[in-house]
Amino acid sequence: MKIVKQLSTITAALGLAFFSLAQSRPANNDAKMNAFIDDLIKKMTIEEKIGQLNLLTSDMDVTGPTMREGYRQDILAGRCGNIFNAYSPQYVRKLQDMAMQTRLKIPLLFGYDVIHGHKTIFPIPLGEASSWDLEAMQRSATVAATEAAADGLNWTYSPMVDIARDPRWGRIDEGVGEDTWLGTKVAAAKVRGYQGEQLGQVNSVLACVKHFALYGAIQAGRDYNTVDMSRRAMFETYLPPYKAAIDAGAATVMSSFNEVDGIPATANKWLMTDLLRNQWGFKGFVVTDYTAINEMIQHGVGANEYEVGALAINAGIDMDMQGSVYYSQLKKLVDDKKVSMATVDQSVRRVLEAKYKLGLFDDPYRYINDERATKEIMTSANREFARDLARKSIVLLKNQGVLPLKMGGTVAVIGPLANTKRDMIGNWSAAGDWSKAVSILDGIRGKASHAANILYAKGANILEDKVLLQKLNQNGGNISVDSLSPDALIKQAVETAGKADVVVLALGESQGMTGEAASRSNINIPENQQALMRAILATGKPVVLVLSNGRPLTLEWENEHVPAILETWFLGTEAGNAIADVLFGDYNPAGKLTITFPRNVGQIPIYYSAKNTGRPMDPNNKYTSKYLDVPNTPLYPFGYGLSYTAFSYSNLTLSKTEIRPADKLQVKVTVTNTGNYDGEEIAQLYIRDLVGSVTRPLKELRGFYKVPLKKGESKDLTFDLTLEDLKFYDSNLNWTYEPGDFQVFVGTNSADVKEAKFKLVK
Ligand code: BGC
Repeated sequence: MKIVKQLSTITAALGLAFFSLAQSRPANNDAKMNAFIDDLIKKMTIEEKIGQLNLLTSDMDVTGPTMREGYRQDILAGRCGNIFNAYSPQYVRKLQDMAMQTRLKIPLLFGYDVIHGHKTIFPIPLGEASSWDLEAMQRSATVAATEAAADGLNWTYSPMVDIARDPRWGRIDEGVGEDTWLGTKVAAAKVRGYQGEQLGQVNSVLACVKHFALYGAIQAGRDYNTVDMSRRAMFETYLPPYKAAIDAGAATVMSSFNEVDGIPATANKWLMTDLLRNQWGFKGFVVTDYTAINEMIQHGVGANEYEVGALAINAGIDMDMQGSVYYSQLKKLVDDKKVSMATVDQSVRRVLEAKYKLGLFDDPYRYINDERATKEIMTSANREFARDLARKSIVLLKNQGVLPLKMGGTVAVIGPLANTKRDMIGNWSAAGDWSKAVSILDGIRGKASHAANILYAKGANILEDKVLLQKLNQNGGNISVDSLSPDALIKQAVETAGKADVVVLALGESQGMTGEAASRSNINIPENQQALMRAILATGKPVVLVLSNGRPLTLEWENEHVPAILETWFLGTEAGNAIADVLFGDYNPAGKLTITFPRNVGQIPIYYSAKNTGRPMDPNNKYTSKYLDVPNTPLYPFGYGLSYTAFSYSNLTLSKTEIRPADKLQVKVTVTNTGNYDGEEIAQLYIRDLVGSVTRPLKELRGFYKVPLKKGESKDLTFDLTLEDLKFYDSNLNWTYEPGDFQVFVGTNSADVKEAKFKLVK
């Protein structure tokens, strides 16, 4: 069988289709909208205008969302036009009722962090990315949007498209990892998933691309830290996913906390106006991150709220999230002529346009429907899809004949991550109800208890470090500490292992150990869990290490000593079922890493698309680029992941060895399933431009296929490369190409490839 269409081409074409749909609204519709908004703005007082630029949070207590009295008064007076962290039709209706009591009855917008599902929780984005399944990633956004919209929401603070190459950063789990090209594909898919074909469908929400820009490049992996990078790195590596999201029609953008070229993003006119609007053509509105305007005082670009407020709005920031700076300063800034009324009107117009496109002026209650909330949220179809996506996101890191497990005998399920529902849904799990999540133990019991004896022991707490425990639990960590001592827990676990034929050892991080404000300087499995692991391995029983975590961990010791390792991230509501499907071979794992796993923290940043240096590593030459104490190679490279079967690559051929700019180059390869199971392989294509006027990376991903192969089956794959795939930014940051020699690589991961050469001629 032949597959002749490159996936990236299909996606690009899809992207265009959706984009042009969004752009091709009838002109008279725009004229109608413009006339409506012109008329409305004319009627608005300055206070009412500022209200539309003000976004305030709802609170939560045990009885559900609640509203501070002051904020209620602000809504009633038209001083607050947008609310976040409020959901459920009943609650949101009450708030919209208040807006309908205001003089101009401008509806509220309801925003929320629907990051990887609303109530049905999908894998964390970094996990989901390991599926390399763009269609499924789009669909998980569609399902999230459907549930969110059925629950009264119309705006999500997603997707996060920050390229990140430092696993110390806790928020690495919210994006798709290190690769720019893949990042652009996922960014566009997510926007299409959230927004649907056209804004205003009741099962869609506004997307918000964040965090613009460069948040993933914070120094030392420490959250909220400074960013310092060249314009080249911005354009080559970090900006393309934001641009792809805008091109896909993203309605809103969120400014990042960090500085960009010495100016906080939230005051950066070059970023927010010259680039985003004038060059990229963005037409929606920009919201700040949480109190980002206020924080510019600490950044040191303004002495007080008055000054930073002026900087933000004049840079092109339309809406103030939770900082109340526009609320308190904007009127005076206009009176003092520091900010023009035209600037205010422009921001107000952008916000009103979003509300208009959502259909809120026709029906402010459009997204508020009790019946939909009961019928469309957490449906069995959504859960089934979540289970499938969770299985696709699992990466088999190592397997020395242990997996898949045979049904029967005694299985000991051991470890602090085995019997926890809360951790399975990960951080930023929105309104996810973790009591409905499936733990690893429950998943294994559900699958195997009819045929196998399933034992359980906790074996260790997630952490013993009291200070860290307190910090995490103060912020909703939900980490329980056992009444047994660490030694007693291990003893019990060793006894349990002794009775079993195989041990499933569930270790890793609690959900609160990654995410916002959860940077770590060591990214290992906590020491007390390692002690448990050593004790269990010493029993001599076969062990499968099942990892739950939101970032690459350092696993050199584990890779050397544990016979089988499964990376399961935080897989969401259906985590335990998905893991059991893979453990017992009902699903053959096919996920591949979209982030490099370093051997140790000292190697960070480490990523596959590095440059060569003038002294590339030579083990026999001291004066070459390397470490004394660790190889340059990572533990697991980008694109890596095993299967229960094996694949071989052969017959790499090119349709031509010399191409002209208008030509398409076909790269063909045969992939064969040489193992004993049916499976799926993610075949990856990389290029290298050998000589350029600016230096080029050693490899750059330009295509992939996810291809099912039955046992013994071969398929010929054809990747199409066009000039666009060979272009880069020259020294003047023009997007261009240069004739010369290229290498092309195809293989099972970024380090294990076959290669060929071709020439691009004028
Ligand atoms: C985060 C954003 C999030 C916002 C609203 C901030 O702290 O950085 O990603 O969307 O809070 O909850």
